[in-house]
Amino acid sequence: MTSNPQIRSFYHESTFTWTHVAWDPQTGSAVIIDPVLDYDPASGRTSMESSNILLDFVAAENLSVGWILETHAHADHLTSAARLKGRLNASVAIGAGIRSVQAHFSKVFNLPADFPTDGTQFDRLVDDEDRIALGNLELRVLHTPGHTDDSMTYVIGDCAFIGDTLFAPDYGTARCDFPGGDARRLYQSIQGIYALGDQAKLFLCHDYPAEGSAARPMTTVAEHKAGNVHIREGISEDEFVSMRDARDARLDMPALILPSIQVNIRAGQLPPAESNGLVYLKIPIDVL
Ligand SMILES: [Fe+2]
Repeated sequence: MTSNPQIRSFYHESTFTWTHVAWDPQTGSAVIIDPVLDYDPASGRTSMESSNILLDFVAAENLSVGWILETHAHADHLTSAARLKGRLNASVAIGAGIRSVQAHFSKVFNLPADFPTDGTQFDRLVDDEDRIALGNLELRVLHTPGHTDDSMTYVIGDCAFIGDTLFAPDYGTARCDFPGGDARRLYQSIQGIYALGDQAKLFLCHDYPAEGSAARPMTTVAEHKAGNVHIREGISEDEFVSMRDARDARLDMPALILPSIQVNIRAGQLPPAESNGLVYLKIPIDVL
C-alpha cells in the first residue's frame, strides 16, 4: 500500500502558474492547490476557462474535492478558489499569516473599516504542523515563510507543494521584498524543505522556462541541493541573503499585483458591487 497521492498538474501559461490536483487513489478524495482565475487586465474581464479544465478533470476522474489550498496570497495571478468552492462544495484554506497580509493591504487599498483582517473569508487558517485528512492519506502543513509571511508548504507522502519558495533549479528562489518577506526566513524555510530528503518531489507554483523548453511542474530536493542557482548545498545564509536582497532591489512589481491582491485577500471573492451593480478594483497611485 502506498502513502503517496496521485497528482495531475495544470499550467497557466499567461501567469506561468502551476495548479496541482492531488488525490488519494483509494478513495478519490482530492485537493486543488493554487487554482487560477483568468483575468485580462486590458478589458478587466474574468473567466473560468482555465479552471473549467480542472472541473472537467475532477469530474472525469470522479474525484471528491474537499479542500482548495492556497500556498499564499499570490501577487501574480487571481485565485479561482471562491468560484471553485461554489462548484465543488469544497472548503478553502490558507496560512494563518494571511491576517497580516490582509491588515497591510486593507490600508493600501483603503478598504472599509469592517473589512475583516482575521482571515474569516477563508474556511480554515492553517499553521505549522497542522494536518488535513485526504481519504486514507494525510496532508501535513509546513509554515515556510520568507517570500511572504503566509507562505505554506503542503506535504503528502513524499510529495511537497512548495508554493513560491523554490522555483526550478535554473531559476532559483522567490523574491523576498513583499510586505512580510524576509530572505533570512526564506533560507531557513528552504532548509526545512531540503530536510524532507533527497528523493522528495517538490511541486512548483511557477515555472519560467527558457525559450524552447517546457515548463516543469516538479523537481526534487536532490536537484536543488546539487544545482539551484541561488541556494545549492554549501551556500551560506549570509551569502543567500546578500544575493536575494541585491536581486530584489532590481525587480519590477508583478504585472497583476494590484488586481491579484485585492481578490486573493478575499479568498477569491470580488469586492462588493457598487450602486450601479458593477464591480471595481482599485489602483493606488504612487504607492507600490
Ligand atoms: Fe507569490
